[in-house]
Amino acid sequence: MGSIQPEFKNAATTTLFELVKARRTYYGLKGESPVSDDVIERIVQESVLHVPSSFNTQTSRVVLLLKEEHQKVWDIAINIMEGLVAAGHVSQEMFDKSTKPKLSAFRAAYGTVLFFVDYESLATIKEKFAIYADKFDPFALESNAMSQYLVWTALESEGFGANLQHYSPLIDEQVAKTWGIPASWKLDAQLVFGVPNSEPAEKAFAPIEDRFKVFGK
Ligand SMILES: Cc1cc2nc3c(=O)[nH]c(=O)nc-3n(C[C@H](O)[C@H](O)[C@H](O)COP(=O)(O)O)c2cc1C
Repeated sequence: MGSIQPEFKNAATTTLFELVKARRTYYGLKGESPVSDDVIERIVQESVLHVPSSFNTQTSRVVLLLKEEHQKVWDIAINIMEGLVAAGHVSQEMFDKSTKPKLSAFRAAYGTVLFFVDYESLATIKEKFAIYADKFDPFALESNAMSQYLVWTALESEGFGANLQHYSPLIDEQVAKTWGIPASWKLDAQLVFGVPNSEPAEKAFAPIEDRFKVFGK
């Protein structure tokens, strides 16, 4: 973008987009935090509280895991993957060279946010608005993704690096058992965070002209 950008009226909008641009995927993370656990908790709570949901159904559920509790998720994933190797579903070479180092890197971080959707809580509204019945589940997932994005961006604003993972359904049962998760909470994503010890990868952008149109300007 070589052209001069128009100014925002509100300086906070500039800040907002600075944070949006600064949010990246960080894989190299240390088990340290630049802020108190209370600050992390506030980020997660405020995100879950204020992110919108269709018909204000508030379907997102979130579990914040720190330190040893965070390490348990990745021990669960490692154990399950080891089981898949033993059963012949994953090669030992693949596990040793790729899977184990990746999962160990997640384990070395400071925390993981588990994002769930409570689809069962939508039963009543699906009956009430039957015409939208098939839309509520995707809407709930979209709302959950908004929370993921906000927590990711806010954690990085506070000095963390983070990456978003999807080990569901592999880890679902063990996760539910370990933290007593209600049966109606369906795990969607895991956001791993810690103090970054490496830079994000180069990122290429497709031309915005191919992805955006404006009419009536
Ligand atoms: C919906 C969604 C799902 C993703 N799933 C994964 C994932 O399972 N594992 C992973 O390592 N990264 C995952 N990512 C991260 C993307 O690969 C990454 O955001 C993308 O390459 C752009 O890089 P950036 O985050 O540094 O801007 C996901 C991102 C999004 C938005």
